[in-house]
Amino acid sequence: MLYTTKAFFDPVAGSALVAVARASGKMRLISFNLLSFLRIPLPMPRPLIAITHIAAMQANLAAARKAVPGARTWAVVKADAYGHGLAHATKAFDGADGLSLVEFDRAAQLRELGWEKPIMMMQGMFDVADIEHLVRYDLQPVIHHVEQCRMLEATPVTRPLAVHLKINTGMNRLGLMPSQVSDIFQRLASLPAVRSVSLMTHFANADSNGTMPDVAAQIAAFQRATAGLDAEISLSNSAATLLQPQVRSDWIRPGVMLYGGAPGAQSALSLGLQPAMTLQSRVIATQSLRAGDSVGYGSLFIADRPMRIGIVACGYADGYPRLASTGTPVLLNGVRTRILGRVSMDMLNIDLSPVPNADVGSEVTLWGEGLPIDEVAAHAGTIGYELMCGVAPRVRREVRD
Ligand SMILES: Cc1ncc(COP(=O)(O)O)c(C=O)c1O
Repeated sequence: MLYTTKAFFDPVAGSALVAVARASGKMRLISFNLLSFLRIPLPMPRPLIAITHIAAMQANLAAARKAVPGARTWAVVKADAYGHGLAHATKAFDGADGLSLVEFDRAAQLRELGWEKPIMMMQGMFDVADIEHLVRYDLQPVIHHVEQCRMLEATPVTRPLAVHLKINTGMNRLGLMPSQVSDIFQRLASLPAVRSVSLMTHFANADSNGTMPDVAAQIAAFQRATAGLDAEISLSNSAATLLQPQVRSDWIRPGVMLYGGAPGAQSALSLGLQPAMTLQSRVIATQSLRAGDSVGYGSLFIADRPMRIGIVACGYADGYPRLASTGTPVLLNGVRTRILGRVSMDMLNIDLSPVPNADVGSEVTLWGEGLPIDEVAAHAGTIGYELMCGVAPRVRREVRD
């Protein structure tokens, strides 16, 4: 059997990564720490770590399946599985029927990691040259624009593709207008380059009732646009999966719920979801403030009494939101306390008062187990999605089963 190997060395982490590719195209990644192998002492890393919880992702996938019995599942893994790591996602979502993302290089990586089930490209091809990649890796493009239909019509392929026709039912982002659907469906279905056409749309407000277009209006538009077409349909994101049980969808497309994030205002815990990422660090310094003393840039927090504060190794360059202001919760040795003043690039400041024996080395959970990511996000005027996707490359990663 033929093998090709490539080796990479990361001088910062001291890691060597060897990629061994078989002639069949399958690839194995072997990673080992060269410096520790050579018994060269490593510098202590920053105490900040993002932990991916595989069991939580598996439980959340099971919750999605249970919410819509009989439906098949596209597990959405774009943006590096919402920041949790694509390789971990292939393991955790082994039970999904397909994976869905937007990045071509990452789709190829899924195949190299051994994922053999369907892969949906949720924005389809961006250029006619992408069709070659669709064919090579057997990727299923979403066709949301007539131009993509023309690309398929103009390009002979060696293996026909399964495609998904996306309809704009009111969100006005991607999708063909309802009046175009019948024509484009027939054109796609008659192409030698296409082996199947399914139908999909995306909800704008499945997490809230009363905001237009609501789910009922979008479903009505979808039904009108697709009347008489015989095809599988895919409608539901996380919000619709959890909160709109009346929606019938042959395939669901849950994303954020698989990672333990809430798709709307209701808490993840009340929806039965488990956090799939814990961001954890430690106190690296303490200060004793007198009444009237301030902390950090801009002196945004001023003590009204003598108090001890802790400085934590985590800042906005790690992906922690700078807009999280005084009062944003953190867990200190498992006890809730709050952020004080402005988050800086590599540090943030917390109130040690609820844990009098806290000191340098005390453990701080920024979000995750015991502290919902959505709650932290709300304090920074954003959503859990953004925080989980935004953890910076410099943050160390760990995975737990
Ligand atoms: C077309 C489509 N389907 C499904 C999803 C998953 O959405 P959520 O993470 O809210 O479940 C997304 C996410 O943006 C999407 O764009």
